[in-house]
Amino acid sequence: MLLAKFVILLVLQAAVVVVVGVCLIPEPVKRQRSLVDELWSRRPRLDGRIVGGRRINITDAPHQISLQTSAHICGGSLISEQWILTAAHCTEGKTADRLRVRLGSSEFSRHGQLLHVQKIVQHEKFNFTNVDYDFSLLQLREPIEFDDTKKAIKLPEPEQMFADGDPCFVSGWGNTQNLLEPREWLRQVQVPLVNQQLCSDKYKQYGGITERMICAGYMAGGKDACQGDSGGPMVNEAGVLVGVVSWGYGCAKPDYPGVYSRVAQARNWIKEHTGI
Ligand code: ARG
Repeated sequence: MLLAKFVILLVLQAAVVVVVGVCLIPEPVKRQRSLVDELWSRRPRLDGRIVGGRRINITDAPHQISLQTSAHICGGSLISEQWILTAAHCTEGKTADRLRVRLGSSEFSRHGQLLHVQKIVQHEKFNFTNVDYDFSLLQLREPIEFDDTKKAIKLPEPEQMFADGDPCFVSGWGNTQNLLEPREWLRQVQVPLVNQQLCSDKYKQYGGITERMICAGYMAGGKDACQGDSGGPMVNEAGVLVGVVSWGYGCAKPDYPGVYSRVAQARNWIKEHTGI
């Protein structure tokens, strides 16, 4: 009896570690755990890339880029002809020469352009433990030329605030976690911004959220970003980059909205490093 209890406790503990772990670990690290990933992903039905969204074309989100090493690892947004904003947890431990950026394509593995990265500027206050200051800038080797498939996204004003419930759009090529679903094509989902205090309360057991974060999603779950969407854009109806996909407990789970880096809080930092 005691032994049974102990075993159940162990299994439960392992499960918690896997769930929490999987979300915060960027793609390359997770790849080594693909079996665990695969097994786990069969359980929450709603897990998947841009959960609850639809296919879009790159012309619908021409700021979207795919950040790659040997494969797609994260999303990102063009903020000028030569600079991209992504998440710090996407660049942590990486050097610029290992990174490639695909832009101007609805498919992460072909078309458009695959470009080299000249420099990574990772936020100096990035904290891997609570995912605070989850911002990184990537400088391309050469400036690109904008067209219908490649354009910069508008940045918010420093400290600009956004209203609870405002509809936003998140896009990316996140992991499908579904062996039958091709993960080639860009997807997007609409999610409303969530009140800061409410979100912090929901994530209380994870230490809450900081001022450098903003939440979006439905309390009923069902629509969200997911693993591999990190670094990618969350844009409001005015076409302003409100957030960068950062973390969450699982994906699209009830009561756990997606957590995004709050771009308005990094607006001056972006200016300092890029002049933009
Ligand atoms: N950390 C994940 C990544 O590296 C993104 C998680 C977003 N999760 C969410 N529920 N919105 O791709």
